[in-house]
Amino acid sequence: MIQTSLDIETIRKDFPILNRQVNGKPLVYLDNAATSQTPRQVIDVIVDYYSNYNANIHRGVHALSQEATDAYEAARKKIQTHFNAAKTHEIIFTSGTTHSINLVANGFTSILKKDDEILVSAMEHHSNIVPWQMLCERTGAVLKVIPMNQEGELRMDAYKKLLSEHTKLVFCNHVSNALGTVNPIEEIIAEAHSVGAAVLVDGAQAAPHIKADVQKLDVDFYTASAHKTCGPTGVGMLYGKEEWLQKLPPYQGGGEMIAEVTFEKTTYADLPHKFEAGTPNICGGIAFGAALDYMNAIGFDAIAQYEEELLNYATEALLKIDGLKIYGTAKHKTAVISFNIDGIHPYDIGTILDKLGIAVRTGHHCAQPIMDFYGIPGTVRASFSFYNSKEEVDSLVEGVERARQMLL
Ligand code: ALA
Repeated sequence: MIQTSLDIETIRKDFPILNRQVNGKPLVYLDNAATSQTPRQVIDVIVDYYSNYNANIHRGVHALSQEATDAYEAARKKIQTHFNAAKTHEIIFTSGTTHSINLVANGFTSILKKDDEILVSAMEHHSNIVPWQMLCERTGAVLKVIPMNQEGELRMDAYKKLLSEHTKLVFCNHVSNALGTVNPIEEIIAEAHSVGAAVLVDGAQAAPHIKADVQKLDVDFYTASAHKTCGPTGVGMLYGKEEWLQKLPPYQGGGEMIAEVTFEKTTYADLPHKFEAGTPNICGGIAFGAALDYMNAIGFDAIAQYEEELLNYATEALLKIDGLKIYGTAKHKTAVISFNIDGIHPYDIGTILDKLGIAVRTGHHCAQPIMDFYGIPGTVRASFSFYNSKEEVDSLVEGVERARQMLL
């Protein structure tokens, strides 16, 4: 029995999409790690923007432009408050975590030297591997990997041995998208700082479940994507300590990121505008702020407690299915269950679940090194949110059992 202070039935009414049917069955949406659903409160903000004050920002003297600018900058302030950044201009709007990471990787091109070392965890999403490989190609720096154990936890002993005066950067996700592991980022950051290395934490998968405090963490860079936190796609944020953001060169050139342009020389705008060339996703930024408001009104402590109960309930029930193995059994994990059934390809299970109206992700989850580590082609991944119900977990378990019987 799940005891929760959340009123799930009322919360579910906020999400229009949860009423729809798929293949003649009620939708059971368990692909939240890929993208979360959007509550009416955020949809209303988007409709209001395009209905009433759609305009370009920071550019016009007219009323609509002022209103849009004020709302966009108010959203930046909300994001600052949510992540407890010391300064508003330490929050850079981006198109999402991938953009945020590439912005930092690009910036370090002029800072790193040949044979400098970059550490990256073994459980990264491709977006936190490929940009660093590209950075190494540009600079001659060397990429080293922090290994993990069978449970899907980072081997901190090995991490400490990898750190040296050559280590300049450490990259790690806060939560693994494929396994749900919550990494000990406080310790990772403190150890990296002890050798003078900077740390970027990819918070894309943590942001829907954990409210990170960037000052308390003392992290150098932290990223998040709005679409994982009940907001729209195409917008996210990069937090960077002011000293780092001052040091890094701009990522893209264009309008709004300049102080002065002549054909001889251009000077750049102050933070945060130096990193925000071009017309941004204005409505998306405003909606990102509204999405954080929505989640904060529910409360991250209540969300974490409920999701943990959902995770335990689902784990216990799934493990009763013959031949089912869960990948990622870390002591500290979010409500993500990656699994396979002996002798069945994950894609086939996902296809049958879809016929039953159940949405999960199958495949390597953009984390091929994790699949290589376990020697598997991929997994079925069910990822839960605070708006999922116990009954939906029951539907998943029945669906997986049905798929097993059909496919074996
Ligand atoms: N990174 C997202 C996922 O894990 C898309 O599904």
